[in-house]
Amino acid sequence: MPSNKTNSVRVLGIVGSPRKRGNTDILVDEVLAGAREEGADFEKIYLSKLSIAPCRACEGCKKAGKCVNDDDMQLVAEKMNQSAIWVLGTPVYFWGPSGWFKAFMDRWYGVRKQVNFEDRSVIVVVPLEDTNAATARHTVGMIKDALDYLKSKILTSLVVPGVLNRGDVNSHEQKLAQARQAGRDAVANHRRGA
Ligand SMILES: Cc1cc2nc3c(=O)[nH]c(=O)nc-3n(C[C@H](O)[C@H](O)[C@H](O)COP(=O)(O)O)c2cc1C
Repeated sequence: MPSNKTNSVRVLGIVGSPRKRGNTDILVDEVLAGAREEGADFEKIYLSKLSIAPCRACEGCKKAGKCVNDDDMQLVAEKMNQSAIWVLGTPVYFWGPSGWFKAFMDRWYGVRKQVNFEDRSVIVVVPLEDTNAATARHTVGMIKDALDYLKSKILTSLVVPGVLNRGDVNSHEQKLAQARQAGRDAVANHRRGA
């Protein structure tokens, strides 16, 4: 909910799982709850509810300076620009991110001149069934390398292994606490200009 505070920090949560109240959703919510405790305004969007087509490699962005694929990515790009902190969540699907999340990521190519990636702080949350956190390495690595390339700053990558069913993450209290703390810290750091 937007607040009336001046100098308020905006945080955007992006859920890359189609499961409402699933593990990704819950983890993103925890980070947002921590951000709210620090007085931030926040908004959450579900990629699966939007129409974001994969990048068509038309290279129209090179001429236009913006993505020429006119779908909901334009709206998301606006919201990304309005938010100093992004919370990006995706489950692991076959060692990578969900299709929704990968399509969203590929569209960063087209909006890289519209969205100021350089000034953003990012928290990444990734649940997965495997009990070995290393199974999330490609997912986390891909997001990290892409954001490094675009000069955004990842503050925290929180991997939560051992969660299969919707809501399993609720029994991982320590991980939920870490997610909440990451939200608090991100807003506090932003206010300090760190
Ligand atoms: C299509 C699909 C592929 C999956 N692939 C993997 C995988 O490779 N490794 C793994 O550990 N879990 C895998 N999972 C399990 C999910 O990562 C896990 O259930 C996660 O908690 C789902 O998050 P959500 O509740 O936010 O949707 C897969 C699930 C689905 C539906």
